[in-house]
Amino acid sequence: MERVKSGVPGFDDLIQGGFPKNFVVLVSGSPGTGKTIFGLHFLNEGLKNGEKCAYITYSQAPKDIMDQAAEFGWDMTGVKFLELKPEEFEEALTGKQFDRIVLDSLSSIAVMTRNSLGRFIMKTKGMGCTTILVSELAKESVWLSRDTISEFLTDGVIHLKSVEAAGEVKNLLKVEKMRSTGIERKSNIYNITSKGFEVKTYKVR
Ligand SMILES: Nc1ncnc2c1ncn2[C@@H]1O[C@H](COP(=O)(O)OP(=O)(O)OP(=O)(O)O)[C@@H](O)[C@H]1O
Ligand SMILES: [Mg+2]
Repeated sequence: MERVKSGVPGFDDLIQGGFPKNFVVLVSGSPGTGKTIFGLHFLNEGLKNGEKCAYITYSQAPKDIMDQAAEFGWDMTGVKFLELKPEEFEEALTGKQFDRIVLDSLSSIAVMTRNSLGRFIMKTKGMGCTTILVSELAKESVWLSRDTISEFLTDGVIHLKSVEAAGEVKNLLKVEKMRSTGIERKSNIYNITSKGFEVKTYKVR
């Protein structure tokens, strides 16, 4: 199976070397957990390989995203930024060929009906690109997405959370599922540094 490297140090080892090509993967987490940075890191890896990359956003201006990426030394000028309303996604993506897409975020699709969300995810799967869908979660959410259905429809789910114990804050990444892949099931510590996202250990100490 062809695998697509995320480019995030320490992460690809958790999923047998990378995302299966063409997979649609949900990255879920509460505000500030690093979902956008994870997505940008993934696109930067694509750019390094000369792949066609797109970033679809509704909630943040492309310039802000590019500035955020520049903080990590990533030049996103090669990325196609699409500012789309949820109802425009399907049409805008038809016939376009991208290798990597990040959609940030799915929560803006909360206004979509469950049917149209399901249709959208199925359509994305058929497009021949590897896609990250960002989903925002409330802090203590028991679900893995705000719409409570995309975690079942997507091929993979990565859950980011921040926990506080004994006065220390730890960022934990857990691969909740990745179809066709043997996964590291434990939570892993991650950090955001000047170089971007990194998974630091494979175990919680
Ligand atoms: N240059 C940097 N060095 C270290 N940490 C940083 C840097 N830039 C941002 N961060 C950290 O990354 C976090 C924000 O990451 P990001 O924007 O990816 O979160 P998010 O999950 O997309 O948030 P939101 O739900 O608000 O969109 C901040 O909490 C900040 O602490
Ligand atoms: Mg974000």
